[in-house]
Amino acid sequence: MAEVIFNKLEKVYSNGFKAVHAIDLKIAEGEFMVIVGPSGCAKSTTLRMLAGLETISGGEVRIGEKIVNNLAPKERGIAMVFQNYALYPHMTVRENLAFGLKLSKMPKAQIDAQVNEAAKILELEELLDRLPRQLSGGQAQRVAVGRAIVKKPDVFLFDEPLSNLDAKLRASMRIRISDLHKQLKKSGKPATTVYVTHDQTEAMTMGDRICVMKLGHIMQVDTPDNLYHKPKNMFVAGFIGAPEMNIRATKLVDQAGRLALSIGNETMPLSETLHNNVVDHASQDVFYGIRPEFVSVSDEPFAEGSCSGELVRVENMGHEFFMYLKVAEYELTARIPSDEAKPMIEKGLHRKVYFKFDMNKCHIFDAKTELNISI
Ligand SMILES: Nc1ncnc2c1ncn2[C@@H]1O[C@H](COP(=O)(O)OP(=O)(O)O)[C@@H](O)[C@H]1O
Ligand SMILES: [Mg+2]
Repeated sequence: MAEVIFNKLEKVYSNGFKAVHAIDLKIAEGEFMVIVGPSGCAKSTTLRMLAGLETISGGEVRIGEKIVNNLAPKERGIAMVFQNYALYPHMTVRENLAFGLKLSKMPKAQIDAQVNEAAKILELEELLDRLPRQLSGGQAQRVAVGRAIVKKPDVFLFDEPLSNLDAKLRASMRIRISDLHKQLKKSGKPATTVYVTHDQTEAMTMGDRICVMKLGHIMQVDTPDNLYHKPKNMFVAGFIGAPEMNIRATKLVDQAGRLALSIGNETMPLSETLHNNVVDHASQDVFYGIRPEFVSVSDEPFAEGSCSGELVRVENMGHEFFMYLKVAEYELTARIPSDEAKPMIEKGLHRKVYFKFDMNKCHIFDAKTELNISI
């Protein structure tokens, strides 16, 4: 049994800097939890406290039934994979894989069996006699993952393990690590996994749930789908999704009993549901948030709810275009399927076009608290 629990976990570095602010997090046994956030938000600090590589300043870390605050790393039932692989340069792949097991005084036959099993899972069999310097980055990282697997830990910890790899390898390693997790689960030996990354694609594709951090605070813990469609605050809304959600200051203006977004000199009425959710905030300063795929663009005004802007820039993504509209003092991004975008683009840039939002997908954030007041 190895659920992982942070209870008011804190880190204050020796220079007095508080990196982690009393965070609470419960990771279920066998869950794949991704911790994501921008550089410096304390992902590594948090993971290192879980691993026992950094002292805990306040609160507690539990693994399974045990409070592990004062246990050494090797007593915690964890295995960690780092960004820089951290392989022993003078040992072969086989020796690297076996090293941790030898230290634990495991019988040789069992070590061989576990090394061979890991080598098979990660397709390292051909590489077992090579030294780390004879490996590509992707191969070295597979060995690093293998070294974690052979320990058969209760909890796998990953700290940006793919950051040193090129985009293509990253994508294939992502799938490999996800598959490995599923495989262990299926075989009845689920490994709780805590995976740290700054890359939202990794977070969205790998996590059962994702914990979004900002400056040592947890902003939201949720499924990928909920983070995307129901972000609790402006930070999560802006961090998850590429291209980014359009988040712009606006006012909720009353138009004959129905609230509307004020956009430049124009307005766009809210849907009934959205109106009902935010009606208490009439005439307040708020931000609206709309993802680029929920913005429609047209040469002609829409039947209702149109606003207008200037088409200033387009980017061809192949299957779709990103269209950039200048609206009042800001720009909006729209993601438009190619078939729809091409006829508009052929008419040229720097002209008036019309846009509207899918109001069922529009978020409203309180300007002061930055909380999503529309869900
Ligand atoms: N040994 C240290 N002493 C003081 N501050 C540190 C130390 N290590 C990290 N920090 C600070 O703690 C914050 C979190 O760092 P880190 O956990 O490495 O972030 P992340 O992994 O999310 O990029 C940063 O502001 C960083 O500068
Ligand atoms: Mg880090």
